[in-house]
Amino acid sequence: MARATIAILLLGCCTCAVWSVNDRLREVFSWRQLDFVFPDQKTRQAAIASGEYVQANNLPLGLEVWRDKLFITVPRWKAGVASTLNYVSLGSDSDRNRSPPLVPYPNYATNRLPANNQQAAGRIVNTFRMAVDACNRLWLVDMNAANGTEYGDPKLMVFDLNTDRKVRQYTIGASLRRSDGSTWFPGLTVDVDANQCDRAHAYLPDIGWGMVVYRWRDDVAWRVEHPYFFFDPMATVFNMGGVRTEWQDGVFGVALSRRRANGRRTLYFHALASTRMFGVDTSVLQSNGTAAATYDEYRHLGYRPSGMQAATMAMDPVTGTLFYALVNQDAIGCWNPDRWDGRHSTNTSAVVARDPVALNFPSDVKVDANSNLWVLSDRMPRFRFRVAEFDVTDVNYRVLSAPVVRMIKGTVCDNNDS
Ligand SMILES: *[C@@H]1O[C@H](CO)[C@@H](O)[C@H](O)[C@H]1NC(C)=O
Ligand SMILES: *[C@@H]1O[C@H](CO)[C@@H](O)[C@H](O)[C@H]1NC(C)=O
Ligand SMILES: *[C@@H]1O[C@H](CO)[C@@H](O)[C@H](O)[C@H]1NC(C)=O
Repeated sequence: MARATIAILLLGCCTCAVWSVNDRLREVFSWRQLDFVFPDQKTRQAAIASGEYVQANNLPLGLEVWRDKLFITVPRWKAGVASTLNYVSLGSDSDRNRSPPLVPYPNYATNRLPANNQQAAGRIVNTFRMAVDACNRLWLVDMNAANGTEYGDPKLMVFDLNTDRKVRQYTIGASLRRSDGSTWFPGLTVDVDANQCDRAHAYLPDIGWGMVVYRWRDDVAWRVEHPYFFFDPMATVFNMGGVRTEWQDGVFGVALSRRRANGRRTLYFHALASTRMFGVDTSVLQSNGTAAATYDEYRHLGYRPSGMQAATMAMDPVTGTLFYALVNQDAIGCWNPDRWDGRHSTNTSAVVARDPVALNFPSDVKVDANSNLWVLSDRMPRFRFRVAEFDVTDVNYRVLSAPVVRMIKGTVCDNNDS
C-alpha cells in the first residue's frame, strides 16, 4: 500500500512538469527506413547486389544543422551502410519531402567502405556525431573501424562548409587513446569565436574515461584524464524502450557555456553511465597540465535522480540553456547553469519533452544558429540488441525541432520566469 502511494506520488510529480512531444516539438522528418542518393541507378543496383547497401542496416544517429543543410550520420555498426556522413536539405516547410533520401557528404566515393583491409586514408569509415563551429566548419571523428576491421587510427576531420573541401585531418594516435581498446569517441564540441577561426580547440570526450583536446593553430592534441570522466557504478543499468543493457561508458556529453565577461568558458560534461553533472574551465583543458596539478579545478555541480542518465548535450547561447537527451526516459531535459547558483538537481532541471514513441532513444540534440532545438530519435537499442522487435514497416527514425524559447517557457530553465 505504502509502495503504491509512493509510486503514484512519483508518477504525479513526473507528469506535472512534462509536456507531450507534440505540444512543443514539431516533427520535421520521419522515416521507416533510410535511403540514399547514389551517383546513379547502376551504382545503386550494384551496391545492393554486392551487399554494400543493405537498407535495413542503416540507422541515423547524429545530427547537426548548418544553414539549409541538416547533417545526419549513419554508423557502420552493421554491414551494408551506404554512407556514414550525409545531409538532407531543409528547404521551405511547404514543399519539404518529409522522408527524403540522404545525400552523402561531401560525396559518395569518400563515404564508401574501403575493400578488405585497404587503407582508408581519405575515406570516412565510421562516424557517430558532428559539430559545426562558428567559422562554418564541420568537425567529426572517424573511428576508422567497422565490424571488427580497423582501417587505421581514428581521425579528426574538418570540412569547410562553404567549399565542401576537407581542410584538416588529424590522426588520433595510440598515445591519445587507451591501450585496452576501450576508447570510443561519441562526439565532440568546438571552442572558437567567429573572428578568430585559427584559435579553435576541439574537445573530444572518450567514453574510455578521458578527454582529447585538439588545438587547431598548432595541429596538436593531448589527452586529459580525471576521475570525473569515469562512469558511476550505480548507474550502469539502462532500460530503453523495453531493452535492458549495461553500459560502463564514461564521459559522453559535452557542451560549452557562453563566454563570460572575463573571456573564459566552462565545459559542462557528464558520463553516460551517471546522473551527475560536472564542469571545468576550458583554460584547464587547454593548459595540458598534469592531473595532479589541476585536480581541484574540476567541479561537481549536482545530480538528477537514478534512472535519469543522459547522453548528448547542447547549449543554447542565447538563453544559456543546456539540453540533454535522457535516453532512459524517452525524454529531453533542460538545465540553465546561469540560474540557481549553477547547481544541478531535480529542482533546478526540468523534463521538457517526453514521448515513448516519438522520443524512443533520443540519440542526438543540437541547437542551431537561430536558437532552435533539434532532436534525432532512432530506437537504437532495439535496432542493435533486439532486432527481432525492430519493425521496418513502422516509423522508426525522427527529426524533431522547436524554438528554444518555446521549449523552456514556464520551466526552471526560463530566465524570464522568476
Ligand atoms: C562481420 O565480419 C564477419 C567476419 O569477417 C563476417 O562474417 C560478418 O558477416 C560481418 N558482419 C557484418 C554485420 O558485417
Ligand atoms: C602534454 O603533456 C604531456 C605530459 O606532460 C606531454 O607528454 C605532451 O607532449 C604534451 N602535449 C602537448 C601538445 O603539449
Ligand atoms: C528541492 O526543493 C525542496 C523544496 O524547496 C527542498 O526541500 C529539497 O531539499 C530540494 N532538493 C534539492 C536536491 O535541492
